[in-house]
Amino acid sequence: MKREVLEPMAIEEDFLPLNGTDHIEFYVGNAKQSAYYYQKAWGYELVAYAGPETGVRDRASYVLQQGKVRLVLTTSLLPNSDISRHQQEHGDGVKFLSLWVDDATKSFEETVKRGAKPYMEPTEFSDEHGKVVISAIHTYGETVHKFVQRSEYNGAFLPGFKEPLNKIKVEPVGLKHIDHCVGNVELGAMNQWVNFYEDVLGFRLLLTFDDEDISTEYSALMSKVVSNGNGYVKFPINEPADGKKKSQIEEYLDFYQTAGVQHIAIETDNIIATVSELRRRGVDFLYVPDNYYDTVLDRVGEIDEEITALKEQNILVDRDDEGYLLQIFTKPVEDRPTLFYEIIQRKGAKSFGKGNFKALFESIEREQELRGNL
Ligand code: FE2
Repeated sequence: MKREVLEPMAIEEDFLPLNGTDHIEFYVGNAKQSAYYYQKAWGYELVAYAGPETGVRDRASYVLQQGKVRLVLTTSLLPNSDISRHQQEHGDGVKFLSLWVDDATKSFEETVKRGAKPYMEPTEFSDEHGKVVISAIHTYGETVHKFVQRSEYNGAFLPGFKEPLNKIKVEPVGLKHIDHCVGNVELGAMNQWVNFYEDVLGFRLLLTFDDEDISTEYSALMSKVVSNGNGYVKFPINEPADGKKKSQIEEYLDFYQTAGVQHIAIETDNIIATVSELRRRGVDFLYVPDNYYDTVLDRVGEIDEEITALKEQNILVDRDDEGYLLQIFTKPVEDRPTLFYEIIQRKGAKSFGKGNFKALFESIEREQELRGNL
């Protein structure tokens, strides 16, 4: 592993200042039912809705929020729309990784000037709550980055969205904000996409993992992490590496049919409480064998948490030179083995859990084996 030490970029040299992730929009087969899952299992609150009842004829979108995490689930109402084609090809998945900016026009111009492929020119939308400007550029696969400028808007989400008609009571599980979003790209394409984030979006390389860091007996992958100027937005990019059997990244690419978002990591302040509650509500996590806990304290040293509680919830621990982190991964949340979630609690560590890769990937391989994809 190579680690770069990045000082925050001087504001004047950052041509794409980001305030953070604005929202993540999925194209899904049945947004009404997916929204119920995110409300009842994950405790997101339904904060806005757009669809036939609000005058939108071709789609329905549900906006879910917990802490600063905002997800949008969109489904097509028509058989031949781009949304239904996307859903048919890729299954449920992330379409927009939308970034919150102060100037969506400048964000578009600066990135397109540096080679970004335009998806949507800067466009103003308004309603009785004010106005927003949105522009968008393509990234890997069919994924798109929207730039959302919302300083003159005070509605529930965006113009066109209304208060939901039918809100159900939800219990949050302590999700705070998005820590990082990981993309899987094709064999040999990782460096090209790292260069894209560096040259076109002004991100910087934070970490490099080669296949020595991340290989098990069967499958291997390579990964590089890029981060924006202020460090609020981090995108690890994975590509498959040669192994004896099929890499988990190849399995993803086979089923998603193109590059796309592999996992979204969400931070909590109390991972034991968050994970035990998610388990109680039926969210499925990857299993790590009990013997992981026999040696974990030798590796990470002293931690605040009771090891028995971590073992009970199957939570992983890793340490770097700045502190430690606790993390766990769900199984894929669709039938295709594509997108999953990570729950992470950081106690000083700014890294990504390299010490857990082996245990984790062996666990993923057990699941691949069960699916007949190893
Ligand atoms: Fe992660």
